[in-house]
Amino acid sequence: MCIGHRGAMGYAPENTLASFQLALDMGVHAVELDVHLVDGQLVVIHDDQLERTTSGSGSMQDHSFEELRRLDAGSGEHIPTLGEVVQLLDQRVGLNIELKGPGTAGPVVEQVRNMRAAGWRDDQILLSSFNHQLLRQARELDSTVKIGALISNASEAGFKMARSLQAISINAGLSFVDQDLVDEAHANNLRVYIFTVNESADIQRMRELGVDGVFCDYPDRVLADQAGSMLPSDWR
Ligand code: G3P
Ligand code: MG
Repeated sequence: MCIGHRGAMGYAPENTLASFQLALDMGVHAVELDVHLVDGQLVVIHDDQLERTTSGSGSMQDHSFEELRRLDAGSGEHIPTLGEVVQLLDQRVGLNIELKGPGTAGPVVEQVRNMRAAGWRDDQILLSSFNHQLLRQARELDSTVKIGALISNASEAGFKMARSLQAISINAGLSFVDQDLVDEAHANNLRVYIFTVNESADIQRMRELGVDGVFCDYPDRVLADQAGSMLPSDWR
């Protein structure tokens, strides 16, 4: 599965509508984005500081939603809301919502319910986070939403957490994935999605390990590499 990381951030400003549109145009199976809650609004941005990706500075939480919307998020794009990205995608590809900031679990579950009402299928939506407390809250609010446990090392704790969240996947880093991790995940009926896989040798290695999907900043590289193969196109 080819998951466009923050859209297609290798080619367009990350987490912007332009980036998600480009990922769509490339033919990704899904996109990943990061959300924070500001002024009761879910905004799509990775960092909690503004400098790296916008014309603003300082902490995002020190700004109002309206102030954030006036910032340039690259090439004249603005910081989108989660709702805007959902509208753009319009059920055409899967969506992995990574909960970054505090307070996001409730509003994200609310958004998922709106998506279902608009026709999105549960297997098109995956919630993930390194903050497993946020995932716990999401699970308590919604017993069926698909959850991926983001892990930052290969310890048993990640698997234990995934099981207790009834997660469908382990979302793991390229630096520590190995055959044992993939095999253990699959033995536990967990999918394995790997971030961030950009180089062709790594894409090939992930294929050999049998992972279920990769997050890529340059989705066309993964799609070119898989020409002719049949890959799943949603979160199973
Ligand atoms: O969800 C995969 C990946 O996005 C996690 O790390 O820092 O890029 O959000 P990060
Ligand atoms: Mg992310």
